[in-house]
Amino acid sequence: MSHWSEATQERAREIISRYPQKRSAVMPLLYLAMAEEGYLTNEGMEEVAAWVGITPAQVQAVASFYTMYKRRRTGQYLISCCTSISCMLLGGDDVLHAVEDESGVPHGETGADGLLSVEHVECIGACGGAPAVQVNYELIEGVTPDKARDLVRWLGSAQPEVVNTDEMQELFGGVRSFDWAIRDESGAVGPYPAFQPLGTVGSEGNA
Ligand code: FES
Repeated sequence: MSHWSEATQERAREIISRYPQKRSAVMPLLYLAMAEEGYLTNEGMEEVAAWVGITPAQVQAVASFYTMYKRRRTGQYLISCCTSISCMLLGGDDVLHAVEDESGVPHGETGADGLLSVEHVECIGACGGAPAVQVNYELIEGVTPDKARDLVRWLGSAQPEVVNTDEMQELFGGVRSFDWAIRDESGAVGPYPAFQPLGTVGSEGNA
């Protein structure tokens, strides 16, 4: 019997139905498990195992490989600063330090109020728009240390329910690698990726 909300169970069924074999749904279901409890618990992995018909050990083998599956509670907003080579050469370390200093949250930690988590990450595939930052995996390119401080203050004061890459790019970004052409209106509502085209977790009508 599932411990998940009815909405999350519906979402799980929808995701599983998209794959010829239900075990292929293990990764998106792990994000559902995170969304249910705020981080990935042993119980969450057991639940995923039951849904997709593999063992909890097999689920854990997948979950432990990827840094985006968080085993500790993450803040409402996860700020990920890229410090790999392209971003590092264009000031990515300074951006990270500005985020840490302005938020009072060091890399790898979550603030006591649970609002912000800060991490440095390896290349997030936006090298042409370096230095790149993500908030809840929504991308901002061409970020300066001053803009990074503005971003931290904005998250603290506005506390948007949804963070959206295009909005944050306009407010806090600089040079972009290229114009993505299609505006993304969905955004993310928590420290896990929005699953398009399935919609944003937590948005109206979803988990
Ligand atoms: S090196 Fe930062 S996005 Fe690739």
